[in-house]
Amino acid sequence: MVSRVIPVDPFDVVVFGATGDLSTRKILPALYRRFFAGQIPPEARIIGAARTDLDAEGFRALTRTAIAEHVGAAKRDPEQIEAFLRCVDYVPVDANGTSGWQELKALIRPGVVNAFYFSVAPSLFGDLAERLHGHGITTDDSRIVVEKPFGRDLASAQALNATLAAHFDEHQIYRIDHYLGKETVQNLMAVRFANILFEPLWNSQYVDHVQITVAETVGVGGRGGYYDRSGAMRDMVQNHMMQLLCLIAMEPPYHFDPDAVRDEKLKVIRALQPAAQSDIVRGQYLPVKGDPARRGYVEDVENPDSRSESYIALKVQVANWRWQGTPFYLRTGKRLRARTSEIAITFKQPPHSIFDEADDSWRENVLVIRLQPNEGMNLKVMIKEPGPGGMRLVQVPLDMSFAEALGEEGADIPDAYERLIMDVIRGNQTLFMRGDEVEAAWAWTDPIIAGWEARGDRPQPYDSGSSGPEDALMLMHRDGRRWREIRE
Ligand code: BG6
Repeated sequence: MVSRVIPVDPFDVVVFGATGDLSTRKILPALYRRFFAGQIPPEARIIGAARTDLDAEGFRALTRTAIAEHVGAAKRDPEQIEAFLRCVDYVPVDANGTSGWQELKALIRPGVVNAFYFSVAPSLFGDLAERLHGHGITTDDSRIVVEKPFGRDLASAQALNATLAAHFDEHQIYRIDHYLGKETVQNLMAVRFANILFEPLWNSQYVDHVQITVAETVGVGGRGGYYDRSGAMRDMVQNHMMQLLCLIAMEPPYHFDPDAVRDEKLKVIRALQPAAQSDIVRGQYLPVKGDPARRGYVEDVENPDSRSESYIALKVQVANWRWQGTPFYLRTGKRLRARTSEIAITFKQPPHSIFDEADDSWRENVLVIRLQPNEGMNLKVMIKEPGPGGMRLVQVPLDMSFAEALGEEGADIPDAYERLIMDVIRGNQTLFMRGDEVEAAWAWTDPIIAGWEARGDRPQPYDSGSSGPEDALMLMHRDGRRWREIRE
């Protein structure tokens, strides 16, 4: 199957913070890959902007290195790389000062789409927005792209929204949650709304519970300072996991249209019940003995008194007609036994068994959507165990790996940033968070965090390479359920 690549019109994209980590690891390689795929035309312009005093050649050299390090060999074609670099320019700009702005303005071509990517600390978002607008660089058609974290609580998110709104209209603001750009996350919507099979069962009458797992094997790495001020709740749950939950729980939008989709997601967030203290388990990973490279969480963040969590599991209820009585169990953590992200929908058992089974614990159907790695879907169904020994049932998987089902194209899944940046250029906000969505997510998160802070709760230690703290198992056991195994 050959993928259809529809080229976008020529554009100017300015990447603020262009010499930084996100830009060199994700943004520049993603732009190159889209160029390589034929989606970005040679007339496009990618303008790096940062405080670093570089000239265009210097920035091209940096871009070349970024491609060498972050693009797979199969796509590193020397001619294509040189052609891409001819689209690349650079201007030193002082984000909260006066220098560079006129030079930047001179580079922006009238009449082509222009987008400004704020790959900088959130404290600079306001300065950039004000200067872009003040220097007359942006028009009513310009787009700005902002990264997470979008605030650290409701008040700061509201302030950030107000700052951006002073210079840009909501239809110009693209708030990135890179999980929404993941191919399989978009597939959630396709599975639900392009098939008749699942939707009639997609409610509390037929779904026993939902598990959403995002497990990582890495620790907090070099981001200890940021991470310890956030913890897993702010870093993963308020945004990525909340988005996954929304896509599972939302009502069908009337159209695959940005506001229609986001309206439905917003309703889910607003329907979330406050999580009780007894429905939350938090943890911190322990050091691996004898391995200085794998220190414990408190050593990694250099804060022996840290009360931030590197793991969190919680039981969440969506209080509406569709979901009343079907719990959503969420868990995410660092230094767990495998890197895996998946959503598992466990259906209820048939109301009555006509078979005389000794063991009736395996009669449930489970739909698993694997987000990463080995993207795919798996539906567990009951069949008769082969053989003449009477009617014995066995659970078997109907397993579909996208790589196998779709061939080359399924194996070559684009990075989330490729999709999202192209959507910015095409002016499609469907996969970006609207301001009210982000605020609603913080409004749900804030009291939960305030609760454990007021109580002075300490996260429980868990072994690196394990499935998380013991108490997380209890969260499910006491409801007569169990977590799925964390494995690749
Ligand atoms: C980021 C978090 O948003 O997502 C990181 O800040 C986390 O802590 C990362 O590691 C996970 O993303 P992915 O795409 O690797 O699952």
